[in-house]
Amino acid sequence: MERTLSIIKPDGVSRGLMGEIVKRFENNNIRIIAMKLVRMTKSQAEGFYAVHKERPFFGSLTDFMSSGPALVMVLEGENVIAKNRELMGATNYKDAAEGTIRRDFANDIEKNVVHGSDAPETAAVEISYFFNQFEIVG
Ligand code: TYD
Repeated sequence: MERTLSIIKPDGVSRGLMGEIVKRFENNNIRIIAMKLVRMTKSQAEGFYAVHKERPFFGSLTDFMSSGPALVMVLEGENVIAKNRELMGATNYKDAAEGTIRRDFANDIEKNVVHGSDAPETAAVEISYFFNQFEIVG
């Protein structure tokens, strides 16, 4: 059993996509074991995306991520890290496969609706960035 962090980014929340995306997780046998809305500060967004701090898009990305509420979730299931990445689609919606969340809903490389951890180590760090043990119904 694996766990991953999923975020419905501020664009996904403000565009009313929470239900649709949660439904895709449920339809794919992914269990949601923690969930909450967060309004990140700029510095919380910078901490979350620290790995990208030298990239040219860092300022804009962290402005966007702190621009409104985001829905953060812990997902659990077999191979859920890869499965979630598959449901999300490629970072750039233009490269995302047919039927993926980003292909269906994104129209901007930065405002691309969802985040998902990319490996077990990053998943562990990202989950503990938002949730303590009592908030996760294991
Ligand atoms: P990254 O971790 O590469 O992608 P993913 O979210 O698929 O794991 O990048 C983090 C976020 O940064 C990405 O979701 C959107 C934003 N971003 C840009 O705005 N411009 C870019 O050129 C890239 C690569 C990412």
